[in-house]
Formats: sequence, C-alpha cells, structure tokens
Amino acid sequence: MKLSIIGAGYVGLVTGASLAELGHDVIIMDIDRARIEKLDKGIIPIYEPGLDRLINKNSESISFTTKMDEVIREADIHFICVWTPPLKDGSADLSAVRAVARDLGKAFAKRKIKTPIIVTKSTVPVGTGKAIRQIVRKEYKNDFSVVSNPEFLREGQAVADMMHPDRIIVGSNDEESAKTVASLYQDLRAPIIITDIATAEMIKYAANAFLATKISFINEVANVCDLVGADVESVAEGIGMDKRIGKSFLKAGMGYGGSCFPKDVRALQQFANHNGYDFKLLKSVIEVNEQQRQMVVEKLINNLVTLKNKNIFILGLAFKAHTDDVRESGAIDLIIRIQKQGAKIRAHDPLALLNARRDLDDEIKFVAQPYQGAQGADAIVIATEWPEFRDLDWSVIKKQMRNPLIIDGRNLLDPRQMRSHGFIYEGVGRR
Ligand code: UDX
Repeated sequence: MKLSIIGAGYVGLVTGASLAELGHDVIIMDIDRARIEKLDKGIIPIYEPGLDRLINKNSESISFTTKMDEVIREADIHFICVWTPPLKDGSADLSAVRAVARDLGKAFAKRKIKTPIIVTKSTVPVGTGKAIRQIVRKEYKNDFSVVSNPEFLREGQAVADMMHPDRIIVGSNDEESAKTVASLYQDLRAPIIITDIATAEMIKYAANAFLATKISFINEVANVCDLVGADVESVAEGIGMDKRIGKSFLKAGMGYGGSCFPKDVRALQQFANHNGYDFKLLKSVIEVNEQQRQMVVEKLINNLVTLKNKNIFILGLAFKAHTDDVRESGAIDLIIRIQKQGAKIRAHDPLALLNARRDLDDEIKFVAQPYQGAQGADAIVIATEWPEFRDLDWSVIKKQMRNPLIIDGRNLLDPRQMRSHGFIYEGVGRR
C-alpha cells in the first residue's frame, strides 16, 4: 500500500522505515528542508540503532519530500508523526498536529481523493482524533477517516519495538478504515486490538502512566529499604517473579526521564483535570520522581556536610543508557540542583555530551574521559546506567579522588566490589 509519513522525527522515521520493511511504499514528509535534504543524501538526522540500516535497505520504497501536494499524489493513508511537546501547564501542544490536519484537508480538497485515511501516531490527548476530523472537515467535504494507531517505541530499541510489538492498537469510529490500517501490520503476527478512537488514544497514555507509576512505586519501596536495611534489587526480583506484577520497570534509581514519560504523565493528569477528574495517583507519581533527584543531593550533603566548593563528578547525562537524548534527563535536573548548593561540577557521558552542553551553563566542565573527571573529586554520582561505567578501573579512580564517595543514582555498580576498593558507596535502597 502507498503510505505517507508526515514528520521526519524519531517516530516518523522509525515508523516509515518499518512500514517500508513490511512491503509498503512510503513517502516521508517534513517542513524542515535541511532535514529532508540530509535524508535524501542518506544521512539520518537522529541516533537510533538499526534505523540507518533499515532506511538504506528499503531505499527503493522510501522517498522524501517537503511538499504536501506530493504526499497526497503518492499516498492514500497518511500517518501524522509530528511532535506534541508539553506546554507550560503540562498539556500537550497540538499546534503541529492541527496544522498538518489543515494542510491535509486543503490538499485533499484540491485533488478530490477517494476516502483518504488519516492516522495519528503522535501521542495526542483523548479527543484529538475528533478535533482532527473537524479541522479536515472544514477544508474537505467528501469522505475521509481518522484512525488512532499509537506507537510504543523506546529510544534505542525503537526498530525492534516496531518490528516485534507486544500488541498493535488501532482505534477508529469507522471499522473499514481500522481494518485497512490493521492490515498494514499483518506480517508482524502481533495481537491487534481494534477499538474506538478515544479508547486507542487513552491506551497510549494509560500505558506510559502505568509504567511511570511502577517506577515511582519501586522508588518509594527503595526509600523505605534504605531506612529499614532491606535491599530493593532483591525486593524487585522477588515481586517481579509474580506474573501479575512482572519483572520490567522495577529498577529503582533517580526516576524516569525522557521525551515521553514526564510529558505523558503530566498530560494525562491535565486532561483528566480538564474533564473534571482529579487523578490523585499521578500527582504522587510526579512528586516521587522529583524527590528521587533531591534524595541524591541529600545523600551528598549527608556525607560531605556541605556542597559549597566541592568537586562533584557526574557520570552520565543522557536520560537513559544507549541514547544521546538529554530531554527531561534526571542527570540534568540533578546537576542544576547540585549547582544551586555551590558545588563545582564535572560531567561525562559516552554519547550525550554535546546535547547536554546546550542545556547547561558554561560553569560545568565536560570531560571526554571518565578518569579526567575523577581527578580531585569529592564525590562521583552515577546518573545514567551506562554499562561501560562498570568496567572502569575503579582502583585508579579511587586514587585520583580527593574523597572516595560514590552515590550510585542508578544502582549500577556492585556495592561489595566498590567497598572492597575502599569507596564509601551508597545506592538507592541497597544494603
Ligand atoms: C518510553 C516507553 O517505554 C515507550 O513505550 C514510549 O512510547 C515512549 O516512552 P523511552 O522514553 O525511550 O520509552 O524510555 P524507557 O526505556 O521506557 O525509560 C524511560 C525512563 O524510565 C528512563 O529515564 C529510564 O531510566 C527510567 N526507568 C525505566 C527507570 O527508572 N526504571 C525502570 O525500571 C525502567
């Protein structure tokens, strides 16, 4: 089938490349000319393992454009993959989605196409499908359908998540269109849930909010473990083996970050509120997430008495390992909090140094080598769970530090091993 992807960002490129891999012809559009020119030359503007290979492999069936007219000429099903960043009050900014809907409506009207289908992939609050219908309807009087087909892509594993999904959600108030969109994925052999559009939109928010809740829950359990001398890693293992609970998303630490969880939890809380419901649980989920970063600051102060003029070395800046993304990163939040206490900060990340530099001030010294950062440090904080930090020569690091304190905000290192090197080691909820 001929499909268009509107928005050549992370979701759009992964969706487009994967749909091409499934045998469809895909035209990917973006208003950013420079981005499209790069893509035309085979340069992938985002870091996502496996994406360049997938795009190159399917280059015959993927084309790029900046023109909506071309999109309409080439495709019958249009995936909206533009961003929905958070507004100040936490609600989702839908201006890009609305603009695309308007442009699609105008372009449909010019060509009078037979029943085009608009699919929302972007995470949009419940009711957006209905709003898109109204916007397009103003421009285009013939038949068209709106379908919600949310993505559940994790950065760093997005290609695998797209090609091996746990489930596919297709929501529409028009059964035929829902079946058409579902058929695009038939080769994936994943369970497909067909539902109405509001339910599909809600599934995306409920999934992310539930996962965030799991993280805040285990973080609170970890905080109690710290007080009573229990070990959260073993608690997580013990409860995770209960199939009703499940093992994943029970890693205690400095809380969740990234471009999805913080935004989606706040947006769900916001639109629940707009509709007259106070989502109490989510308020606590957000509060606990913030508290986890502050607790690292407090652990530092407890050990160092004051942070004024202390050298703190932050290992990890990305919001999680295997990405260069620092959006809503716990590490960045933590650095700002520590800076407020008057500490001097050095930071290292295997991939995210450049992006972090943009978000932080010039006072911070970014180092290319972890050993450089440890020189004269009063404490090291592990802020991202990069596995390579485990393989550092910690005996060398210990010799370089002024004071051998490690606060492991991600429970990455082995406490026993660190203590045997002579470090004062504190994790989150670990004995
Ligand atoms: C997430 C969802 O997983 C994905 O389905 C959705 O569509 C987009 O948001 P992503 O933001 O890439 O994906 O990251 P994910 O791997 O889910 O981790 C999110 C955050 O939670 C990270 O900061 C991570 O460090 C943290 N996390 C995750 C924990 O603190 N503990 C855990 O057990 C799991």
